[in-house]
Formats: sequence, C-alpha cells, structure tokens
Amino acid sequence: MARASIKKVVIPVAGLGTRSLPFTKVVPKELVPILNTPTIHFIVEEVVAAGIEQVVFVTSSGKTALEDYFDVNQALVRTLRERGKEELAECVEKTNKLCEVISVRQKEPLGLGHAVLCAAPVIGSEAFAVALGDEIFPPWDANTPKGPLATLSEQAGTQSASVIGVMQVPREQTSSYGIVDVGKAEVGSAPVLVKSTVEKPKPESAPSEYAIVGRYVFGPEILDCLKAVKPGVGGEIQLTDAMSALASKGRLYASAVQGCRYDTGSLLGYVKAQIDAALRDPSLAGPLKDYLRTLR
Ligand code: G1P
Repeated sequence: MARASIKKVVIPVAGLGTRSLPFTKVVPKELVPILNTPTIHFIVEEVVAAGIEQVVFVTSSGKTALEDYFDVNQALVRTLRERGKEELAECVEKTNKLCEVISVRQKEPLGLGHAVLCAAPVIGSEAFAVALGDEIFPPWDANTPKGPLATLSEQAGTQSASVIGVMQVPREQTSSYGIVDVGKAEVGSAPVLVKSTVEKPKPESAPSEYAIVGRYVFGPEILDCLKAVKPGVGGEIQLTDAMSALASKGRLYASAVQGCRYDTGSLLGYVKAQIDAALRDPSLAGPLKDYLRTLR
C-alpha cells in the first residue's frame, strides 16, 4: 500500500447538516465559504496535495451544487473573458481542473459507515482515503503545507495497514468524537497500533483522550468489516465499529495530525476559520484588526 497507490478519496456529503440549519436547508454545508473559498475546496486541495486524483462524493438529493462546483461552467468563463476579467476566469476554471469527481448516492441516512459502504462498488479492492466534509486543515502552517492526508497515505504505505488521524482533546469532549484505545501509548506523529475504537464514549469510560478526526486511510478490508457491522450508536452503521473490528486484527494505526484544524460544522469553529483566514489575507488583516480594536 505505497503512497502512490491511494487514488481515491471518499467524501460523505449526504448528511442533513442539522448543526447548520436553516442555511443547510438549501445549500450543502460543504459549500459554506471561508472568505470566498468553500470548505470542500480546501478539502479537495488537501486531497490533491496527497497525490489523490479521484474524489468519490457519497451524496443525496439536493446536493448537486457540490458536483456543479467542480464541473465546467463555460458560460460564466466566457462572460468573464469577454469582460476582460481573465484572472477571475482562471480562478473559476481552476475549480473544474482540480480533480475527477465520481458521485454515488446514499439513499437512506444510515450513518457514516453506511455512507462509506455506498462507495464500495467504486473502490473495488484498492486502498482508499476518507475525508469528512466539515473539517478543514488549511495550508496555513508552513510546517504542514500538505495537510494530514499526505502524511497518513505515506504512513499507510509504510505500515501496509490502515492509518487514521487523531488529536488529543480535553476529556470532557470525548463524547463528541470516536476515541481510540492505544493502551498506555502516547500518540505522536509516528503511527501507533490501535487496540480498539469506540464512538462518542462518556468521559469516564473513554479509553483515551485521542479523538478521531475526519481523515482516514484504509486498506480495502475495512469494507468487509463494514459489511459485518450491526447498527450501533443512534441506530446507525458506525465507521468506528468497523475500525474496531480492524483494530482487533492488528490492522489499524493512529497518528497525531499536525497543523490547524477547524470544525466548520460548529459555529465557533466556523467563526474561528473566518477570522484566521481574514487575518492572513493582506488586504483584510489591517482593517479587520482596526475594527476588532473598536469592539469591547
Ligand atoms: C464523526 C465520526 C467520529 C469522529 C468525528 C470527527 O462524528 O463518527 O468518530 O470523531 O466525525 O469530527 P460526527 O462529528 O459526524 O458526529
């Protein structure tokens, strides 16, 4: 499972986006912009930086705007060129040249594990990546310009096993995440063998404070684990339960993700991403700081 062998990423985008209603009534949450760049654009750039060429959207009705975003829009490009707006035309064209998009439908909201399983006919027997659409790792940190998927793909190749990204969270937050059991090990940037995984445990029963973030590189055997999984927390087919089965075979590693992470599905995470992006933009940083200083 060398790095170059990861050709596809599965991005589940069929969810209702309940945390972001009413906005998500009409617009997929993955299109919420940070300044003028949709969150999904950041994710696809991270995917491309990892050498992955094909994006498999697991989608549902009402999500076609996502596919359109990565498609050609000749009329818009032509109009921009006619008006001498070459730079904008190139900016628009860049979006449809980023990656190849394949869409599959998730017809029932049966959970993240079920969403990944919906992509099985496209994945076949290859190793693949999974990226969740409401977490972004923008290339703002000079030490980690490529984002977690590039590192995880490399590590999965070296280990010949699945590797998932984790980060340490305060114990009171474990019930918001999948949590890994790594025994007494500390998880740093090198992969550590995972004993089991549990979805959203209460702080008192969490096996560690290492939370699974939305970046995974799996061997194809995860699909067999998913097929065998029974509905878990919330009656859903949990990816975390399938990962636990993989871990029990000694086939799952975790490594700590580096760089800035934003949970854009939460309002605070979204606002933080906006402010950080604006403070990094040379045309906005000065006026924004001036404005912030006027607030109390
Ligand atoms: C999902 C996963 C969970 C993971 C989390 C990361 O949960 O089920 O294991 O830790 O994403 O954000 P969700 O946030 O969709 O409830």
